[in-house]
Amino acid sequence: MKFFIDTANLGDIAEAQALGVLDGVTTNPSLMAKEGITGAENILAHYQKICDLVDGDVSAEVISTDFEGMVEEGEKLAALHPQIVVKLPLIADGIKACKYFSDKGIRTNVTLVFSAGQALLAAKAGATYVSPFIGRLDDISTDGLNLIAEIRQIYDNYAFDTQILAASVRHTMHVIDCAKLGSDVMTGPLSSIKGLLKHPLTDSGLAKFLEDYKKGN
Ligand code: E4P
Repeated sequence: MKFFIDTANLGDIAEAQALGVLDGVTTNPSLMAKEGITGAENILAHYQKICDLVDGDVSAEVISTDFEGMVEEGEKLAALHPQIVVKLPLIADGIKACKYFSDKGIRTNVTLVFSAGQALLAAKAGATYVSPFIGRLDDISTDGLNLIAEIRQIYDNYAFDTQILAASVRHTMHVIDCAKLGSDVMTGPLSSIKGLLKHPLTDSGLAKFLEDYKKGN
């Protein structure tokens, strides 16, 4: 499973990259705003900085909601760096733009996916990635992980190439459950990745090994 980090924070991205397990970055307009990155030029410059920090795919989201606007923005984003993946919302014009970009060989991430039917449409339009938001489904007392299982089954039935990018991952258990269900990618905060390191028996076992080493030396 690929690990993406879901942030526009350069410090968090650098820390995940240094761990050696990072495969990419996802951002969205809210994450950019959280870091105080505003204005088209500053946003493009920030994407460039992210691409310079990591080796993998960097999802950059369009703001337009009409086909022509999405195409214009997406082409600008894709031209910025070969690592950029154009992120499009799952609306009718987003699906049309996804088909347009996939026909041109430009990679896409179809976002704001909350149903298996939406994921089927994204795959039909040739999306590189589809992003089901599991945490936001959990927030409204729906089973977010069940959506990952449904999409996995549908994509496997028809051998779709579209990769399932479990998004809105909130914690470490989401990461593990997505891995069990066969999600191709997960994107979550740094804490969801670092949480995988933790086990009290690792800490106590290491402390004992070091203590015993000191006794013998
Ligand atoms: C996905 O690409 C989104 O950026 C993200 O995962 C949304 O997560 P949230 O629901 O925690 O805001």
